Amino acid sequence: MPDDDLRRTILNMLQGVEHPREKAVDVMYLLQRQYGYLCDEALVVGAELLGMTPLELEELATFYDFIYRRPVGKYVIHVCDGVVCWMHHEDDIFRHLCARLGVRPGETTADGLFTVLPTVCIGDCDKAPAMLVNGRFYGPLTPGRVDEILETLRSGDEERVLCP
Ligand code: FES
Repeated sequence: MPDDDLRRTILNMLQGVEHPREKAVDVMYLLQRQYGYLCDEALVVGAELLGMTPLELEELATFYDFIYRRPVGKYVIHVCDGVVCWMHHEDDIFRHLCARLGVRPGETTADGLFTVLPTVCIGDCDKAPAMLVNGRFYGPLTPGRVDEILETLRSGDEERVLCP
């Protein structure tokens, strides 16, 4: 169950909103933040708060790349699969990343650190090929830069990864 603070936050957000479902994505993000992903329980709670059926909310949840219906790792890597990144050999980056981590797209590493997911354009095409790690942008990427980012994340020195 969501804790009381979260329930209050969601109810406050929905107060006075004529069509609560307009806030469905925000509510799913809040629940996901607490549960780590949008598990079945969170989906049912969210649907109830929004006045929707779980199926209606499920349909929205599975539409959005950044709502996770399965558990994800500590770092969620969204590799851009948009057309500009394709033109800049994003497939090489994707292959390299998956090989380094020993996963296929959509999978999480055995140590629970990394999940790799494709996503559509992440909005910084001039720095293609690119990816997001927990919402933080990285690009333009090379295999070497990917290795550097992974190594830094593994070391826990996340601040260093901020440097371009
Ligand atoms: S196509 Fe990759 S950032 Fe736009």
